Amino acid sequence: MKPIGPLMWEHRLIEKMLTAMMKHVDKIEKSKKVNPVVIDVAVDFVRMYADRTHHGKEEEILFRDLASKNLSPELKKTMQELLDEHVWGRKTTAALVAAKEQYLQGDEKKLAEIINLARQLGNFYPRHIEKEDKRFFYPCQEYFSKGEQDKMLEEFWEFDGKMIHEKYNRVFEEYTRLGF
Ligand SMILES: [Fe+2]
Ligand SMILES: [Fe+2]
Repeated sequence: MKPIGPLMWEHRLIEKMLTAMMKHVDKIEKSKKVNPVVIDVAVDFVRMYADRTHHGKEEEILFRDLASKNLSPELKKTMQELLDEHVWGRKTTAALVAAKEQYLQGDEKKLAEIINLARQLGNFYPRHIEKEDKRFFYPCQEYFSKGEQDKMLEEFWEFDGKMIHEKYNRVFEEYTRLGF
């Protein structure tokens, strides 16, 4: 298997999750009420799966290795755009969490902001994914030998293996912060 394989499977799950989130956003808009769990579950997915696990492999392994290759100017430019988009995704997710917190504290005006930010994320991911799937991953893999690709795939699995521990260490930290 090639290392872009698991990245593309992950793209499919991210697309499905964001489509489901967009349906919830439509319901939020109609009912003018937010069930915070709907936002919390989507944020956890975006942060831990789409960003930490998926973008983590892209940035810390694939892009890191591509940085030592003599990439075409076009691919170099696309890689920078992708990095910038990851940063935008993190900022927008943080803004969504902040809006939800303010809403829960009684600021009902934040409802429109929650809807807007969630939709921005829901619209952003499919475009970002399409860019990677159609314009980046295939030409990139040409820069790696079969041996390099096998090594990268191995490193991907190791990276994934660390994620469950990282996730639950975070859950523990969050849990102890709650202070009932
Ligand atoms: Fe990405
Ligand atoms: Fe991706």
